[in-house]
Amino acid sequence: MPEEQQVDSRGEARQSFFAKQQLLQSTRAVFQQLAGVLKNSSLYPAAHPFLLSSADKLLRQINELLVMRKDVSFYLAGGELFFETNSVPVDQGLAALMEQFTIRNVGGLIFRPGLTNEEIIRFAHFMNNEAKFFADRAKVEEAMVREGIMHIEIHRVLFVDKKAGASIKEETKKATEVFMSAVDTVKDMVQSVHQDKAINMRQVNTTVQTLVDNILYNRDALMGLTSLKMYDEYTFVHSVNVAILSISLGTYLSFEKTQVAALGVAGMMHDIGKMSVPLEVINKPDKLTNEEWEMVKRHPIEGALMLADVPAMTKLAMVSSFEHHQHGDIRGYPRMDDIVQQHPFSQIVAIADAYDAIVAARVYYKVPTPPEQGISIMLQKRGTVFKAVLVKAFVNMIGIFPIGTVVKLNTGEIGIVMHQTRDLRRPRILILTTFDGSERDDPQAEVSLLETAHGNYTRTIIGTIEPVGARIDIKKYVA
Ligand SMILES: [Fe+2]
Ligand SMILES: [Fe+2]
Repeated sequence: MPEEQQVDSRGEARQSFFAKQQLLQSTRAVFQQLAGVLKNSSLYPAAHPFLLSSADKLLRQINELLVMRKDVSFYLAGGELFFETNSVPVDQGLAALMEQFTIRNVGGLIFRPGLTNEEIIRFAHFMNNEAKFFADRAKVEEAMVREGIMHIEIHRVLFVDKKAGASIKEETKKATEVFMSAVDTVKDMVQSVHQDKAINMRQVNTTVQTLVDNILYNRDALMGLTSLKMYDEYTFVHSVNVAILSISLGTYLSFEKTQVAALGVAGMMHDIGKMSVPLEVINKPDKLTNEEWEMVKRHPIEGALMLADVPAMTKLAMVSSFEHHQHGDIRGYPRMDDIVQQHPFSQIVAIADAYDAIVAARVYYKVPTPPEQGISIMLQKRGTVFKAVLVKAFVNMIGIFPIGTVVKLNTGEIGIVMHQTRDLRRPRILILTTFDGSERDDPQAEVSLLETAHGNYTRTIIGTIEPVGARIDIKKYVA
């Protein structure tokens, strides 16, 4: 690509990044304003000027967003607020509003053109009904029509939906298929290199695109799979895991879809240079000799060289293969004489790579590192090995107790982490056993650790459990 064009496309990417940040700011402002209207509606009658002016402001903000779209839709899922497919950053105030919505069975709101000031006020009063009023979906819909609320629609909360158990199972089944087919792509790719055949870039790109689409649709399902023992050949799975974790972090950081896909390819290719290292060295359980270690340390260089020969391979995949062990402070390998900043893609792939290695050691090689300890290892390396801001984003995304972690609660219950919430210490849990240790027959007993009763949290995590010791087959629940 000519230099000028590169600058142009980088400029465009930056512009679209800022445009997205701005959009997220305005969507957050809508939610903040909505919180204000709801509060005012509980304090003042419908015709009060305070209420009128706050509803007016909200209407203007919604209408601004409606200029470019046919509706303005928000979703609440797993403790997060989404606008379209973007995660909107929430603060304490918004989180309280989200809890209020979740308790009322509201999983999202859609605002449509034609909305009026009066309708917003009617809706605000409507939301002041008690939580139990919202239990019957049909009645709620009828009441909204009766109240003349025609341009606002309420979405049900996915997790309390009676059919949610089935739909979650469907989604994880689909995610497993996507995961397995990605593993097959990596196997094909490795085989091609072994046989001196060209890597099928079309297959690689299609696979990565499918991963991106699935992660945009349901990040948790695919991310949950990265912590399970899915195949015996960890080498193949590792490439898929690093692709999934890199894509997830890219989407979490609101990268453009094309950038996210390029990141996925980079993640999938990062260790391809390991094919030049003898298998007995790769699989050696004992400490490597100096000579062997030198061989391993060449894999980033070999990888970049291999990828340079693949037609249609992105330059960024080469760069991140070369740089993924270089560390933020350039103390890793290959050693460079000049201090060159790692490309952000390499920094992301490096974080995904290191995290997966920690989890794999636990899952595949039975090295007892509890997940939360894995996270703290990552955090210790922030600012040196890893870019601090990226590790922070990664930990926020993964949570302190990643999906699939088996946790012990202060109630004596045992559960599996299913989704993250705004509080990293309080994810959503699928309760597995009751106090006497017998399996629960209700698979929908998913609870949020954010739930409170009389001002105290109902449940709190007091520790994690190794699934093997507890004889729990996590795959049954998250795969
Ligand atoms: Fe590597
Ligand atoms: Fe790796």
